[in-house]
Amino acid sequence: MSDIMKFEVENGIGVITINSPPVNALGVNARRAIAEGFEQAWADTSVNAIVLICDGRTFFAGADITEFGKPPQQPSLPELLEFIETSPVPSIAAIHGTALGGGLETALHCHYRIATPSAKAGLPEVNLGLLPGAGGTQRLPRIVGVPAALEIITSGRHVSAAEALSLGIFDALAEEGKLRENAISFALKIAEEDAPLVRVRDRQEHVEKHRGDQQIFDAFRKKNARKFRGFEAPERIIRCIEAATNLPYEEGVAEERRLFMELHDSIKSKAQRYVFFAERQTSKVPDIPKDAPKRDVNRVGVIGAGTMGGGIAMNFLNAGLPVTLIEQSQDALDRGLSVIRKNYENSAKKGRISGEQVEQRMALISPSTDYNDLADQDLIIEAVFETMPIKKDVFGKVDKIAKDGAILASNTSYLDLDEIAASTSRPQDVIGLHFFSPANVMPLLEIVRGQKTGTDLINTAMKLAKRIGKTPVLSRVCHGFIANRVMTVRGKQADAMILQGVSPEDIDRVIYDYGFAMGPFQMRDLVGLDVIGRGSNEKTVASELVARDRLGQKKNGGYYDYDENRKATLSPIAMDIIRDVASEKGLKHTPDADAQEIIARLLYPVVNEGARVLDEGVAIRASDIDIACIKGYNWPVYRGGPMFWADTVGLDKIVSKLNALEKEFGDAFTPSPFLVKLAAEGKKLSEVSL
Ligand code: 3HC
Ligand code: NAI
Repeated sequence: MSDIMKFEVENGIGVITINSPPVNALGVNARRAIAEGFEQAWADTSVNAIVLICDGRTFFAGADITEFGKPPQQPSLPELLEFIETSPVPSIAAIHGTALGGGLETALHCHYRIATPSAKAGLPEVNLGLLPGAGGTQRLPRIVGVPAALEIITSGRHVSAAEALSLGIFDALAEEGKLRENAISFALKIAEEDAPLVRVRDRQEHVEKHRGDQQIFDAFRKKNARKFRGFEAPERIIRCIEAATNLPYEEGVAEERRLFMELHDSIKSKAQRYVFFAERQTSKVPDIPKDAPKRDVNRVGVIGAGTMGGGIAMNFLNAGLPVTLIEQSQDALDRGLSVIRKNYENSAKKGRISGEQVEQRMALISPSTDYNDLADQDLIIEAVFETMPIKKDVFGKVDKIAKDGAILASNTSYLDLDEIAASTSRPQDVIGLHFFSPANVMPLLEIVRGQKTGTDLINTAMKLAKRIGKTPVLSRVCHGFIANRVMTVRGKQADAMILQGVSPEDIDRVIYDYGFAMGPFQMRDLVGLDVIGRGSNEKTVASELVARDRLGQKKNGGYYDYDENRKATLSPIAMDIIRDVASEKGLKHTPDADAQEIIARLLYPVVNEGARVLDEGVAIRASDIDIACIKGYNWPVYRGGPMFWADTVGLDKIVSKLNALEKEFGDAFTPSPFLVKLAAEGKKLSEVSL
């Protein structure tokens, strides 16, 4: 007898209720419980129809991801679903919350689906580097048609109940809060009608329409080539849907199974599954329980309406929180406000928000040049110029004005948060909230824990991050915190390599092929070379480009020249500058570096710096470093981040290459003793946690 399944009969309707918190994932216990429920229903001759429903926050949210990679346990999900589809009486899935992946596939093996208006359905396996492996690729096209199935399964998006109803994924909507009773009434009606039972697998009209139509698939591949680059799952999903269109159901399912297993065993899917759990780990802090005290944040102050301050403010406005925006002059304030408005208006032009929402969000801003207007704020975030005296001055002022219990946050990128906190009388109320540019877009929020930062502040910041749709990563104080610190070494090595004669174009191409959206030099040209080099007096290639008024794409080109279509070609001026700077520094010319060598010299130091960050206790776990690089620097998700990727390369291999590079190029490559120790012990870097 399963203790997570309840079977009841009401008016001749057998109701199978599964309760397997937190999300009713279809692990072995849930699968066995469902089978048992159907067996009980079939054994009861008074049962004329079956309702399959879940307790708790959601209908089945998919296969149990923790089971992947472990020995299979019977029944497998496909076996279970084939079994329930043989039901001699109508079966109705009653859906609330999110019917995802194997959860939706379960519903697609029932004869009917009824859902609450707030329910969502989707096949998000693509986000785990997988494809729906229990019939989803064969069944969804049979309901929604080939074009919609291609889009829904390759994007993995959650489809709203209203859309699911119009597409035919759901047959009916229940009243909110009355799913069980509405599903029973629906089942009674179906049982009374005594109509022939139609299985989704037998529905042909949508797939028949495109049989032999190669063009629809090729056009879809072409249109999405950029989006799918580097990922293995989308192409296999398309092949499955081609099979659904062209082959009998059984053969299509066999193809789906084969391609699912290929993905399941791939490193890229393992990386994406690791990332799924890593993302959910970041808010867990060993010395702070989830239910630890936290402070209320309902009103936010932002100081500085520049590049970062404006974007930071938008996060809170988007979440409906009023923001008092402070600048040092009316001009700067007006400039900041007009950038925010322009950003919102661009979103409205793209149809992402309505014109009314633009006005609503703008109306939530109280602009001011008077610090006294910060007196009532629960959270005050400083985003002024990056110099210690200015930061201290601002915090000193805020200390005098902010109410008791207000959280005082700095968005500093590199400065010592403890020194900033010491300029106030309340260092326990000071925290780092480090956003990434553009702050309204990039999903990473580093939460910087100073020596005296109160644990309630950290708990509050973790919850706040979720409220504004960011992924939090906790960092201790150090130069650059986690993401900037580990990624800066990549930039340094890229600079060193071009001075040794390796072409910036080769470096950019190798980094692009690894999976980044662009290489380091393309990135600098895009962001602006004046912004990149700000604050440094060292003579570099970038500073020389700026001295010749080459600021990147925005003015005269940078490392590259750009034509009217923004097509880039390596700039002869940049190449001259590279040669000049290199000869002034007396560097030896070693231009030969293949892709493997470029990867080793650019990315092994990132791994090495990550090991240092862990060893120093700056990050509390390796997977947090991976998430910081993925969410803050677009490290390709299918590589799992630098720590996970290092394990796939082999730590011993990385250490021995670093040793060789140290001999040739010096201490920038000296392996961290911690990394050496892990390699010697045969341990995994990505599993390190304090
Ligand atoms: N398997 C195992 N654990 C799961 C899980 C799953 N499918 N889905 C969620 N969990 C766990 C999370 O790890 C988390 O655990 P924790 O509390 O210990 O950290 C807990 O459930 C709650 O999850 P969230 O924090 O993500 O809760 P939210 O309410 O924010 O989101 C959700 C709920 C939308 C269901 C979200 O968890 C989600 O998207 N889950 C994954 C859905 C998915 O990818 N399904 C497809 C699985 S693959 C599959 O089905 C293959 C099949 O085709 C054969
Ligand atoms: P910015 O120069 O674009 O904006 C700073 C703004 O602060 C200016 O508008 C200025 O007028 C205002 N300001 C200066 N002193 C002030 C004061 N005393 N009171 C009120 N306003 C004042 O700079 P940016 O890029 O927005 O950086 C701000 C902070 O964010 C810095 O600490 C920076 O290191 C950090 N940061 C920057 C990132 C970036 O990519 N630009 C990324 C993450 C953090």
